[in-house]
Amino acid sequence: MAVLVSGGGTNLQALIDAEKDGSLSPCEICLVISNNEDAYALKRAENEGIKALVCKDESKLLKILNDERIDMLVLAGYLKILTGRFIRNFQKPIINIHPSLIPSFCGKGCYGLHVHEKALEYGVKISGATVHFVNEIPDGGEIILQKAVEVKPYDTPVTLQRRIMEEAEWKLLPQACVIVGNEIIGAKRRKKEDCII
Ligand code: GRF
Repeated sequence: MAVLVSGGGTNLQALIDAEKDGSLSPCEICLVISNNEDAYALKRAENEGIKALVCKDESKLLKILNDERIDMLVLAGYLKILTGRFIRNFQKPIINIHPSLIPSFCGKGCYGLHVHEKALEYGVKISGATVHFVNEIPDGGEIILQKAVEVKPYDTPVTLQRRIMEEAEWKLLPQACVIVGNEIIGAKRRKKEDCII
């Protein structure tokens, strides 16, 4: 799989750690791509010897992913919205992690700390994280996994963000990759068997 990032890359780190301890199998992180040259996530990839690139152009991105024969694309804190054209042309599963319980506090403009500000403003007592397939509607694709996290009375956007990352995001994203990775391998195996028959 390839991982798209824009910032700190703690979710990427969770994937790297899962791969190291064997719990990301059958998935393998082949490539990390950022739209932001200053993303610390690039450093995390380089530290692990994973190929890391900066790419801001969708046509180039598509070519790189096809050339590298990537089977699954993971958006881990990628702050750009992929166009419908890219999604249609890529034709492989794309998954994203969002730091709320979709359909709450999601959609265009609802990213990073804004998500947690909105949750606190609304006064919800439970928030969480969602991993979902990416389609042309921002945060609108089929849900793969969700995990609830308690909101504490003293929470600030920063403390809530941290708890959601620790209790939900860093566990959920590797688990979702494994689910989708196994589906991809199952589909490839069935296709091969059909060819033999
Ligand atoms: C995470 O909260 C993720 O859910 C959201 O952006 C944040 C990225 O954090 N999409 P990091 O770059 O993985 O540390």
